[in-house]
Amino acid sequence: MDVFEAMSERYSYRGSFRDQMIPRDDLRRIVEAGLQAPSGKNIQTTRFVIVDDADLVRQIAEMPAANTAMQQAKAYVACIVDLRPEAVYEGHAFQVEDCAAAVENMLLAITALGYATVWIDGWLRVQKRAETIGELLGLPEGKIVRIILPLGVPEEAGPRMEKMPFSARAWFNRYGEADREGHR
Ligand SMILES: Cc1cc2nc3c(=O)[nH]c(=O)nc-3n(C[C@H](O)[C@H](O)[C@H](O)COP(=O)(O)O)c2cc1C
Repeated sequence: MDVFEAMSERYSYRGSFRDQMIPRDDLRRIVEAGLQAPSGKNIQTTRFVIVDDADLVRQIAEMPAANTAMQQAKAYVACIVDLRPEAVYEGHAFQVEDCAAAVENMLLAITALGYATVWIDGWLRVQKRAETIGELLGLPEGKIVRIILPLGVPEEAGPRMEKMPFSARAWFNRYGEADREGHR
């Protein structure tokens, strides 16, 4: 699958997973894709914990569920940033962007390998779930799970979100204007 196909095949999957384990080689390939992502000043701030230990998977799956995928995941990838990111360029920190870039690379790799996932972010930030998972995974002081990806082989196709067309969100040269030929 080439990258354009992976982009169009990718979608957020929140449904059931088959009872099929994910080989470590695949988990490693997925996270290697994350490691290839760009990062502010190439500081490569995001850290990753791949959760495939049955007991840990169970403990995360048993938390108040965000969706079926979180409850049935065969593995998770936890993406970790600093709780108080250091400014690295003119007073700016880029850890959230670094993490997001790594996650998008991983979403594409997950799709290309025939697995499914969903970007879980908001769910982590309530009821101290990020902290609870951080404790389970042995995060050091000052680190927090920012995004978690539940992984598995999808049982069925999930609903696909419509994307707005190019003309509604993108323009050549000037915001909101048709180009010289009148194309939008
Ligand atoms: C920053 C961000 C946070 C997200 N947080 C969640 C989340 O907490 N729970 C969830 O089910 N989906 C979450 N998503 C997935 C979005 O809901 C999803 O990408 C969006 O509805 C578009 O659907 P698609 O991914 O199928 O294209 C998040 C996506 C992004 C980019």
